Amino acid sequence: MPRIPEETVEQVLAATDLVDLIGSYFPVKRAGSSFKALCPFHNEKSPSFHINAATQHFHCFGCGESGSAVGFVMKYENLPFPDAVRKLASRAGIHIIEEALDPAAEKSRRSRSRLIDLHREAAAFFHQLLLNDPAAKHARDYLKSRGFGREMAERWTIGWVPENARTFLDFAREKGYSGLELRDSGLAALRQEGDARSGLYMRFRDRLMFPIRNDYGDVIAFSARQLREDPRSGKYINSPETPIFNKSKVIFALDRARKHMLKAGYALLCEGQIDAISCHEAGLENAIAPLGTAFTPHHARLLRRYTETIVLCFDSDAAGVKATRRAFGELAAEGLAVRVVELPAGDDPDTFIRTHGIEAFRARLDAAQGFFDYMVNRASREKTLANVADRSKFARELAELVATITDAVNRDALINHLATRLQIGADEFRGSVDQAMRSLRKPAASRSDELAAPAVALSPLDNTIAYLCHLALQSPDAQAWLAEQIETLIEISPFLDGMDILRKILARRPDAGSPSAVNAFTATLPEADLRALRRDLTHLTQLPDHPLEAAASGLNQLSLRALKIRDARVRAALRDPALAPERLVALMHETKEIKRLLGGAQPAEQ
Ligand code: GTP
Ligand code: MN
Repeated sequence: MPRIPEETVEQVLAATDLVDLIGSYFPVKRAGSSFKALCPFHNEKSPSFHINAATQHFHCFGCGESGSAVGFVMKYENLPFPDAVRKLASRAGIHIIEEALDPAAEKSRRSRSRLIDLHREAAAFFHQLLLNDPAAKHARDYLKSRGFGREMAERWTIGWVPENARTFLDFAREKGYSGLELRDSGLAALRQEGDARSGLYMRFRDRLMFPIRNDYGDVIAFSARQLREDPRSGKYINSPETPIFNKSKVIFALDRARKHMLKAGYALLCEGQIDAISCHEAGLENAIAPLGTAFTPHHARLLRRYTETIVLCFDSDAAGVKATRRAFGELAAEGLAVRVVELPAGDDPDTFIRTHGIEAFRARLDAAQGFFDYMVNRASREKTLANVADRSKFARELAELVATITDAVNRDALINHLATRLQIGADEFRGSVDQAMRSLRKPAASRSDELAAPAVALSPLDNTIAYLCHLALQSPDAQAWLAEQIETLIEISPFLDGMDILRKILARRPDAGSPSAVNAFTATLPEADLRALRRDLTHLTQLPDHPLEAAASGLNQLSLRALKIRDARVRAALRDPALAPERLVALMHETKEIKRLLGGAQPAEQ
């Protein structure tokens, strides 16, 4: 296990101010001598999360969570202790000398930090090319044609990647990055998947490179825009999922915008990253955009840390309306208020600001409507609300959206408001909402992936194996260790149920530090596996204090049980009167072997 000297931990804690630290993640308000915030560890409407500046401790009176700065980072970022200390150390500019290293955890940490270094150097390299390379003139002209100058490119480290793959690959090699690292970064890919000697090709060619950053401002991926229209590939290409990049977790420009959300009191959510950039450049620095992917529950939870109100400004086409509805559903489920800005048909924030100016855009922002008024206004413009039957039909559609609102008082007020606007009976409408709520709330644990699932058989899954699966999904250390025990796991497989689920986890090794990576992985499992895992995981939400030891003792137990089952099978086979002589010899050998193994393991049993 990695050992960070205690004095270092103390030093790191001494250099960290807990109020500052927590305030860098989400809004914190002074309340007399202490500080208060909405607790990030459970859902709440009024703040019961307290930070004591004097003792440098936090405590939530709602859920009981408490601890120091290290505990906070561990819990909030879902990091093991040493990584949390490292994070705080680098924030405080303290260099850590570790006494001994856990090779697997160290390796994964090193490779992640190599990937971040590579992205930083790549972004700088592409940026220099954009600014200076004569061959990038068309890229500079393109930016200019969109109304962006050199300053914008500098502020966002926009870059250009040439058509010729060698330019970047040679640069990266010279900097000491290996082919595998280039592949892992997603910037390059193997010509032949799985064949390390097939050579690399660049994923991005002759494109504008927009760096995508995590909360800390590290570049972790790129979104690359075509410079010449070519229907054979997408207008934008994003980096694939990598150990440091998870699309459903990252929001473009959040690293800059979160501070401004506090001041503005809302986040301005656009559809494209160019829209977000245009807003920032025009002084609306609370603008953000998802990465061209659908808005996820994770995005909504992320935003909830920083603000209570989201103003949506999506494109005013059919896709934009659909995206607006979807984002509303996710945001409302997290208790966030949603308002909508409407733009003229065919405009997005970028084109609107460019043609009408920022003041006109601010006026639109000021005129943003509540989500439901926006829906009703749209529908009445499309003249579908002429008679009672049409209005009732529309109300039933709305009922499903109203049902996502978690606050009962708000929901009830809204029902009355909408009934009045639609000239329909409030009780009838309330009935539709109640019905929609019942079908929505049934699977309490996860909303999106279990809707109306028919009874699916559960995969057989041994309890202890389920426990190991849980450890492998939650603890990077346990996962790394279990992955090294693959031979033992294979030996056990024929005797106990569910080992294939564990092996799937260890073959894929989703990032155990990231809930969304884990969710993305579990989403690929067959329904029956997933349900079996869920059944056992509902009472296994807490990680043990020593996940590695827990994994080792779990695996020990399994080996022992597998041996006993094997023993029983051999004995049963030996009782067969028609046993062939050579089979008999083999079985006798096996009995001896099992006895030897059991002899070694016996003391561990109670
Ligand atoms: P511009 O045409 O450069 O102004 O882009 P936009 O921001 O207006 O893009 P649009 O509204 O067409 O799309 C919104 C977002 O979806 C973009 O910012 C991208 O993140 C993403 N996107 C658009 N086209 C593609 C595509 O072809 N492939 C992928 N993966 N993402 C895309
Ligand atoms: Mn656009």
